[in-house]
Amino acid sequence: MLDNGPVTTNIPHPSAGYDDRAQRYADAFQDETLPSFPLDRNMIRMLVDLVGERPRVLDAGCGAGQVTKMLRGWGCEAVGVDAAEKLVELARTAYPGLAFTIGDLRALPYPDQDFDAIVARYSVIHTAPEEMPTVLAEFARVLRPGGGLLVELQSSGSAPTHAFDHGAAPAWAWNPDELAALLGRAGLVERARLLCPAQPNLKYAGTPEAHLIFRKSGPPRGPEPFAG
Ligand SMILES: C[S@@+](CC[C@H](N)C(=O)[O-])C[C@H]1O[C@@H](n2cnc3c(N)ncnc32)[C@H](O)[C@@H]1O
Repeated sequence: MLDNGPVTTNIPHPSAGYDDRAQRYADAFQDETLPSFPLDRNMIRMLVDLVGERPRVLDAGCGAGQVTKMLRGWGCEAVGVDAAEKLVELARTAYPGLAFTIGDLRALPYPDQDFDAIVARYSVIHTAPEEMPTVLAEFARVLRPGGGLLVELQSSGSAPTHAFDHGAAPAWAWNPDELAALLGRAGLVERARLLCPAQPNLKYAGTPEAHLIFRKSGPPRGPEPFAG
């Protein structure tokens, strides 16, 4: 059961395919130091450094919870949310001291301005393009003014956003400029982006990737001086 009540949509739930392969997925990706993903890890670290001491961070679409655990290890007050019930169960078992909630990115079960930062690591790829504004509006709603959002995802490079074959669920590779425009419309402002071309010889980087850090307007939560 989702902890946040029904989501109004006709689109099948994006997490359904993850419950079928939850154990396999958790076994493959459980290591919270992200040893196979140094770029992902360092962009997450960059986000945390931007939002200051001991931030409250939402791991949005947390899967097996390894990023939530990594964030806690860095001193964050980290919580995870995901709609795939079996993955959340596995996360709770692997990391019993951490808070994991079953919930939907399209209707987050948190009050307004609850978080200093949000990490969305490969979790919005399953959001149909017509629903992306809803998810981004939810991210903006639960962020505090000056808070930061990191979106990491497969990208279409310079091509338009398009569907790609993922296996677990329908998925889209986003054109970074198209996604940045939607983030802007949600009231978020770009701070940094890392664009990575496909690496055919690397197991987990066969498609281009994008890592976008955006901020909600307002005085920064972290160490960066604010002009006014
Ligand atoms: C590729 S996995 C990434 C998991 C995790 N972020 C990681 O770094 O390993 C995508 C995750 O996003 C979750 N997800 C996708 N769409 C979601 C939605 N609308 N609400 C909640 N979770 C969602 C899936 O259930 C899945 O666990």
